[in-house]
Amino acid sequence: MGNGEIVAEENTPRLRVHEFASRSGVKTRDVLQALADMNEYVRSPSSVLPPPVVRRLGVALGVDPTLLVDEPVARTPPVEAVRETEAFSNDYGWHSGAVKAPRSVALQRELEAVEARYPALVEHRRQLASMGSQVIRASLIKGGPLSGGANLRIRFSEAIESAFGLTREVLAIYLPYEDFQMRSYEAVLRQLKDERHVVTPDVILIWTPDERLGTKLAEWRNLRTVAIPFKLDSVNSFGLIELLQNHIHIRNLFEVTTPVSGDTFFGRRTVLQSLREDVLAQRAAGIFGLRKAGKTSILLELSDELRADGVLPVLIDLEALPSPPVDPTDDLLALLRLRMMEALKGQELRVKELAELPDFPSTMQFKIAVQKLLRHLGSSGTRVLLMLDEIEYVTPSGKAGAAAADLPRVAQVLATLRSLTQESDNMSLLLAGLTSSIVEDGTLHGRPNPFFSWARKVYLGPLERDEAADLALSLGRRMGIFITEGGLDALYEASGGHAYLYRHLASTVVKTLPVNLTNRIMARRDVLSALSAWKSEVHAHIVEMIRHVEGYYPVESVLLDALRAAPDLFNEFADSEIDATRHLVDLGLLESTDGGYRPAALLELL
Ligand SMILES: Nc1ncnc2c1ncn2[C@@H]1O[C@H](COP(=O)(O)OP(=O)(O)OP(=O)(O)O)[C@@H](O)[C@H]1O
Ligand SMILES: [Mg+2]
Repeated sequence: MGNGEIVAEENTPRLRVHEFASRSGVKTRDVLQALADMNEYVRSPSSVLPPPVVRRLGVALGVDPTLLVDEPVARTPPVEAVRETEAFSNDYGWHSGAVKAPRSVALQRELEAVEARYPALVEHRRQLASMGSQVIRASLIKGGPLSGGANLRIRFSEAIESAFGLTREVLAIYLPYEDFQMRSYEAVLRQLKDERHVVTPDVILIWTPDERLGTKLAEWRNLRTVAIPFKLDSVNSFGLIELLQNHIHIRNLFEVTTPVSGDTFFGRRTVLQSLREDVLAQRAAGIFGLRKAGKTSILLELSDELRADGVLPVLIDLEALPSPPVDPTDDLLALLRLRMMEALKGQELRVKELAELPDFPSTMQFKIAVQKLLRHLGSSGTRVLLMLDEIEYVTPSGKAGAAAADLPRVAQVLATLRSLTQESDNMSLLLAGLTSSIVEDGTLHGRPNPFFSWARKVYLGPLERDEAADLALSLGRRMGIFITEGGLDALYEASGGHAYLYRHLASTVVKTLPVNLTNRIMARRDVLSALSAWKSEVHAHIVEMIRHVEGYYPVESVLLDALRAAPDLFNEFADSEIDATRHLVDLGLLESTDGGYRPAALLELL
């Protein structure tokens, strides 16, 4: 059918990469990847794509073409739309970019059926319309855990969409329960997940007659989804806006201190790609970086990506082990066995050989069991990826290690892991931690170091400017916040792009922004005025980061002191300690300049 398509083609706009991402709901980095696959070279998420590229990209990614055109009428293909006759002008502009009231007979019939079951919808629709917004799809749910409920899609006015960072229509679920239960809530979240490619993926409206709906949703709140109790007061005509403000603007998506993956993970494409190749080619690699540089996040994100390749990721956090002088070997083997079993069980894979081991197996028992198991898993095409995180807990090095007793049995376990990796064709190993001494020192606990020169080294420095900007803009958009170029520069300059510090600073600035404005903007001046309070807040973190460098990189730490004491003489030191200087650059503590080096932004926060 030609007509609609012609309209769509003519109206395809020039879009920046991140605009394409937000319209289509495809992650920015997947868009960048698709562009690379199409041999379209772009520099950054803010590069502009001409209309033909927008169209081809849409086809390549299977995006509904109506999402990529400018004319709102074309974005509602299932519903016949007509111009809204009833004028609801209001002074606050929420009505601007209003959605035209759909006139489809089929939709009218569905809406009547839903309103008969859920009379609350009548008032909801009235308020939505008064804010330029419409229900554009509705159906009663038949079958499944939400049977008897109703599934609606709401399209908000453009003013509301942009103020609240809604990327698409919003899913609304109505349920009949007086006592809304956690398991129904989980079913609702699954529904959102199923529809995430066509609706705003992280916002959902829920209505039930339960008096405690709001309290319950608040209790069950998680960072991923904003679940809004769709309770509106008919007297307050701005109830809808307040409801959105109270739930969407109030969250602070920058404020995450645990490792991230999925839609709160950004950048690091090159590192991820190279690690993926290492794992599939069974080359060991080690990821080293400062505290909170994002090491564990990389492991999580990589795990998610590799699952599709038949890889079973097993993350082992060595921080849980007892520290020297207690010999952690027995606990290490127990932990390896336990984590492997958990991961295998989670995928309903074979655990027999491990299950039959004692809780505290000997190194040899463990090795034989894993060998047998790997053979079985290999026949079904499964590859095991062991990831040892916080590797410094088993390596004595620097000041931190000087106090540690030699633990030859730990070295023996590591040697076993190396030989398992080398002997089988379906096990890979990744290491992560602060110190690269695990692959650089010839001896470990008085024995030859099994990892010496074995694993490829990856140093995790700061995020690049564009990666950081993508992070800030994407997360900002989901809170209805726009960040200016000046704002992005200021965030990057002050934090040096260190992943945790950058987010922490952005989070601090967000807290200073007003909650209830239409256009929330973070500009350079907002960042600058939050800066001095932020600096004193993170000072202790920075001191701790540097303390770790001193602990695990003794030579580097001497260099840092030299740099601070006599910056003019530093180049001579740097020439005599080439490796250590490189480490400092790779870790993001030193920047090379034309004629030499200067301390990175991070050190200026000391
Ligand atoms: N790629 C990323 N995208 C977005 N945020 C990130 C990214 N990497 C790290 N962060 C932010 O930095 C924080 C620290 O990340 P993570 O825990 O992965 O670092 P780490 O190097 O493993 O830290 P630790 O030294 O404590 O083990 C996260 O909570 C997150 O806020
Ligand atoms: Mg970590």
